[in-house]
Amino acid sequence: MIGVFDSGFGGLTKLSAFIDELPEYDYIYLGDNARAPYGDHSKGIITEYTRQGVRFLFDKGANLVILACNTASSNALRTLQEEEIRGPQVKDRNILGVIFPIAEEVARLKAKRIGLIGTRATVESGVYREEISKGLKDFELTQKACPLLVPLIEQGWVNRPETMEILESYLEEVKAANPEILVPGCTHYSILQDEIEEIMGPEVKVLETGKIVARSLRDYLGRHPEIESRLGKNGRRKFYCTDSPEEFKKIGETFFGHGIEQVELAKLG
Ligand code: DGL
Repeated sequence: MIGVFDSGFGGLTKLSAFIDELPEYDYIYLGDNARAPYGDHSKGIITEYTRQGVRFLFDKGANLVILACNTASSNALRTLQEEEIRGPQVKDRNILGVIFPIAEEVARLKAKRIGLIGTRATVESGVYREEISKGLKDFELTQKACPLLVPLIEQGWVNRPETMEILESYLEEVKAANPEILVPGCTHYSILQDEIEEIMGPEVKVLETGKIVARSLRDYLGRHPEIESRLGKNGRRKFYCTDSPEEFKKIGETFFGHGIEQVELAKLG
């Protein structure tokens, strides 16, 4: 099984992209909605919560866990890779995040001016800058933390003028830096993809992060038969959350874009 971990609902946008690209695999999704949002927490707390989520998914039989959450990927991935999968005895499982494939795409596009929006924890981690600089020299990165967007999107305030105003105000600074590309560096922002594109204007390429990460997952599986061969391929999907399965189902479906049949409660930590 491919495990997909997120702080809550947003990772369902990524799961949806994985299923579009790779429908044959079995997926198990865990959203830690009891403790979301992660974006304003410290690195230590984000790492601990993510550790618990990753262990839960491995215990349930996942061989590959993807941190769909930008906040978890930027703050916890390296530590958890060191802890959970390094060592000679561990060859049949791995943990991946979303920052590296997105940064790789940014480098491939060879932009000189790059805009990035994300949670406070993602922006403050500096991990996007580090990863982009592995493939690109001499670029300017303008980053903006947008802490109000996650709650607004979760409340369904997507088409409200208030949300557009807040989005415009967040993007103002990034737009002023005249970027060639913009990275929506948070799971939730793909829900506002059209609005972000409208505000940034036709000259700015707003990355479709779900598609980028899904294509990178396909490449990874092609290069790692030791993991790929262990993954179930019966098109099964299982959903776990850490609070109110009813609410998870209701809000989750708007992120997932499909029905969610059954959600079970996971106990972490
Ligand atoms: N999933 C988070 C991310 O992609 C957004 C929500 C949160 O802050 O927990 O950064």
